[in-house]
Amino acid sequence: MQSTNGPLAQGREFEWTNADFERVQSLIYQKAGISLHDGKHAMVYSRLSRRLRETGHDSFRGYLSWLEGHDGPEWQEFVNALTTNLTSFFREQHHFELLASHLRSKPTGTPWRVWCSAASTGEEPYSIVMTAHEALGANASFSLWASDIDSKVLATARQGVYRLENVKGLSQERMKRFFMRGKGANDGLIRVKPELPRAVEFLIVNLIKDDWPFREPFDVVFCRNVMIYFDAQTQRRVLERIHKVLKPGGLLCVGHAENFTESKDLFTLKGKTVYERR
Ligand SMILES: C[S@@+](CC[C@H](N)C(=O)[O-])C[C@H]1O[C@@H](n2cnc3c(N)ncnc32)[C@H](O)[C@@H]1O
Repeated sequence: MQSTNGPLAQGREFEWTNADFERVQSLIYQKAGISLHDGKHAMVYSRLSRRLRETGHDSFRGYLSWLEGHDGPEWQEFVNALTTNLTSFFREQHHFELLASHLRSKPTGTPWRVWCSAASTGEEPYSIVMTAHEALGANASFSLWASDIDSKVLATARQGVYRLENVKGLSQERMKRFFMRGKGANDGLIRVKPELPRAVEFLIVNLIKDDWPFREPFDVVFCRNVMIYFDAQTQRRVLERIHKVLKPGGLLCVGHAENFTESKDLFTLKGKTVYERR
């Protein structure tokens, strides 16, 4: 059980009770499907305190009541504050190796449609496009949709500007081919070359909502390190919907700690954290 007392007793700026935490748990579950366990008290307090300051509220109770009473832009900020966006270029490398050989396995000229469904700040979708350019050439018919629920990370993804330390593990060849180094005031930064964002359609998609905007099915879906925040029931519903937007035989790449072997009716395990749509 975590603390429930007034702000001064805890050295906190705002009063923070178990009831406030439970209310946040319920709201973020309804909005994003994210199950926040009790160990996240301190994280939630710290991330949402910023929202209280920005919106001029002096208590969590007041902020949450105001939030619930309006259908305004603060909902997006609330969600943005509570998502965890950790990612990196070529994270879980084996998926990119598999993607490259999958892309090479079909005749030249085959059109490809890929969806990166928890794109965060862009490292994952850009790793996918780099892989496609290397495997198929820059002029192939390759379309990538990169989405996330968090509008702030998508803005970063669209910009495609990163710190040099974020690309430390990349080969010199990739650095030269796909990135531009910042100079002067931008020293220490790098930007992806324009052909990478040109190949990507960035958009907000909430995995737990029934309003995905896709008309044509995908060949490959990346849904990595996001379902880990969902409970089993939500995971199953999302898997059913991914099944609908994938072509038969299409591939689903998931995160290293995610396992959907129970959904055998939808997907067959094909390799390490890669499933094939039935
Ligand atoms: C830990 S990051 C993983 C990023 C990337 N896929 C990777 O594996 O490196 C999880 C991402 O899922 C997003 N997310 C959380 N809930 C979501 C939802 N309901 N719909 C879409 N994206 C969501 C978060 O905003 C965050 O950017």
